Amino acid sequence: MTALLDLHIRDKRFDQRVVLHDVSLSLNAGEVVSLVGKSGCGKSTLLRLIAGLDRRFDGRIALDGQPLAGVSPHIGLIFQEPRLLPWLTVADNVGFNRDSHGAANADPRIRSLLQEVGLLDAIDALPKQLSGGMAQRAAIARGLFNQPRLLLLDEPFSAVDAFTRMRLQNLLLALAAQHGFAVLLVTHDIDEAAYLSDRVLVMGQGEITDDLHVATARPRSRHDDALARTRDRILDALEAIHAI
Ligand SMILES: Nc1ncnc2c1ncn2[C@@H]1O[C@H](COP(=O)(O)OP(=O)(O)OP(=O)(O)O)[C@@H](O)[C@H]1O
Ligand SMILES: [Mg+2]
Repeated sequence: MTALLDLHIRDKRFDQRVVLHDVSLSLNAGEVVSLVGKSGCGKSTLLRLIAGLDRRFDGRIALDGQPLAGVSPHIGLIFQEPRLLPWLTVADNVGFNRDSHGAANADPRIRSLLQEVGLLDAIDALPKQLSGGMAQRAAIARGLFNQPRLLLLDEPFSAVDAFTRMRLQNLLLALAAQHGFAVLLVTHDIDEAAYLSDRVLVMGQGEITDDLHVATARPRSRHDDALARTRDRILDALEAIHAI
């Protein structure tokens, strides 16, 4: 079976400084994979390369066996902050990339996505009228508008309170199961990585050092002992890198 995403970054530098070195990564369709590692180790840089936002590197990135040449509609990207356009309604933000010119709030695809993320009531709202969690749900709906096969998320839930965060995590899992896209998520939260992931990739400075499988069946309970053991494995791997 061809992997959905397959990459090898031999070398990525900023100026002369090596930021990624010999990073290999394969992701299967529908897989949920987290990327953890200390600040500055290169996680966001790797996501930006996969998203096609930075093409200055030595290596290869393939989606479905085809080399990626820049930004692809098959890959969605969600950031820590929602990055909604403040002068557009929720519907117009979600449908920002669409071709048709009819009213966005009457578009069945936009309505259906907003229904899925629980924002249909806010379809005509402006971003300033939304809470942080609502705004991030709008950003998720926008990220799914092109029906991506792979969704990249860079610390997507770190700016919201703990309860909202758990709800957004469950929403992400439900959407991934429903739509079948794969997930590559950068997080500093080890509980989040253990709870969400099929695999957790641990990064040291510029390289992936561990690829930890999380076998716990779904749906998962946050109180499952097996997840506590997964958290310990992730911590052990991080400690081995940094001698904490
Ligand atoms: N545009 C840039 N120009 C120069 N250096 C950069 C640039 N972007 C990132 N870097 C450097 O590359 C390294 C990796 O940065 P990156 O943002 O990928 O880290 P990160 O793992 O995402 O960190 P964090 O967890 O803090 O978000 C850092 O040393 C950073 O200073
Ligand atoms: Mg980062």
